[in-house]
Amino acid sequence: MKIAVVGTGYVGLVTGTCFAETGNDVICVDIDAAKVEKMRNGEVPIYEPDLDVLFERNQRQGRLKFTTDLKSAVDHADVIFLALPTPPGADGSADLRFILGVAKDLSGMISHYTVVVDKSTVPVGTAERVHEALAKNLDESLFDVVSNPEFLREGVAVDDFLKPDRVVIGTNSEKAEEVMRRLYEPFVRSGNPIIFMDIRSAEMTKYAANSYLATRISFMNEIANLCEEVGADVDAVRKGMGSDSRIGKRFLFPGVGYGGSCFPKDVQALARTAGQNDYDFQILNAVMAVNDRQRLRIADKIEAYYGDDLKGKTIALWGLAFKPNTDDIREAPALYTIDRLLAAGANVRAYDPEAMDNVKELYGDKITFCEDQYAALEGADALAIVTEWSAFRTPDFGRMQEALNHSVIFDGRNLYDLRRMVEAGFYYDSIGRGV
Ligand code: UGA
Repeated sequence: MKIAVVGTGYVGLVTGTCFAETGNDVICVDIDAAKVEKMRNGEVPIYEPDLDVLFERNQRQGRLKFTTDLKSAVDHADVIFLALPTPPGADGSADLRFILGVAKDLSGMISHYTVVVDKSTVPVGTAERVHEALAKNLDESLFDVVSNPEFLREGVAVDDFLKPDRVVIGTNSEKAEEVMRRLYEPFVRSGNPIIFMDIRSAEMTKYAANSYLATRISFMNEIANLCEEVGADVDAVRKGMGSDSRIGKRFLFPGVGYGGSCFPKDVQALARTAGQNDYDFQILNAVMAVNDRQRLRIADKIEAYYGDDLKGKTIALWGLAFKPNTDDIREAPALYTIDRLLAAGANVRAYDPEAMDNVKELYGDKITFCEDQYAALEGADALAIVTEWSAFRTPDFGRMQEALNHSVIFDGRNLYDLRRMVEAGFYYDSIGRGV
């Protein structure tokens, strides 16, 4: 099939590349000419495991092209995916400027039947607004608008796209349904469902899924904090709970709060939608408040440990990205930790396998960036772990003790066995497990 993807952020690029991988003819459009030029020269603009291999292969074989010229892509395409940013506006609701702007442009360009697909996370009712914008200069027989929310996780986005648990499609058109079925069938050969529904429900599904997952995380973070108070071990509790098939084992890990470009924004946007509909969505407000508090949990622990003596102390920080396998630092708990430490007069020596350049842009020389995880420990009074990169899971503890001034670890991701750490002579404070 002939596809255009408008917007080459991480969703757009993964979507375009993976559709090319199943033999479709894909043109990706972006207004950023420098970025398009780089992609034409084979440069993948984001770090996402496996994307480079698929990108290179499909570009070489001529199925994946890049342009700044929307019109040429529209002439080419039978299906146009809108994968544009929806940043939170001043009032917390998603800002639809980009999507509606492109829909308006498309209205003057489409000249044959085209399925226009909302791939971005957009509030309920957006597809109808896209439809209106398209219908301005366009006969309604020439297009259908479909909602197709994405459930990709950063760091495993390619795998998630190629092997989705489910595909959700919101449409009221049989013609569009058939187009979408043909596009996605190769990805669900294992038998996972393509779930067709009305457009508003599809839009709602995305927010409900992300908000539910965020709720699970905030809930577990509260359980963990309470475990610390009552002398229980949240790891044991998590396993005990998660083995109930109604609950399930995944997404029950307490930590330093959820971050990234999705959960914080989507929970806020859904709460906003509720507000606009005069519905007081109480759980969501609590989920956000708990997360605001939890992302400072490690800084709180460090401050409690040092009391007034934190000024002038040096804290090593392992992990800056909001989660492993990405260089993304949007809403990363590490940033909140750094801000608090700097405000208290501490020095920070940081290491992250992928995200250091992004953090350098924000902090410059206010913190020290180190070339590897052990270098970060040199002369530090304590280590704080904020992101669970695999390389942090089985470190050389002897080497750590040699490098650190004191064997003190604040672990926001519960990477190590509590008993072993104590036996090895560490002061080891993690989340929900006692010290
Ligand atoms: C999330 C969803 O998982 C995807 O399904 C969705 O498509 C995506 O948002 C989106 O809307 O685009 P992502 O933000 O990439 O994906 O990351 P997750 O792996 O879901 O992690 C989100 C946050 O929750 C991270 O800060 C992570 O550290 C935290 N988390 C996750 C926990 O604290 N505990 C857990 O048990 C799991």
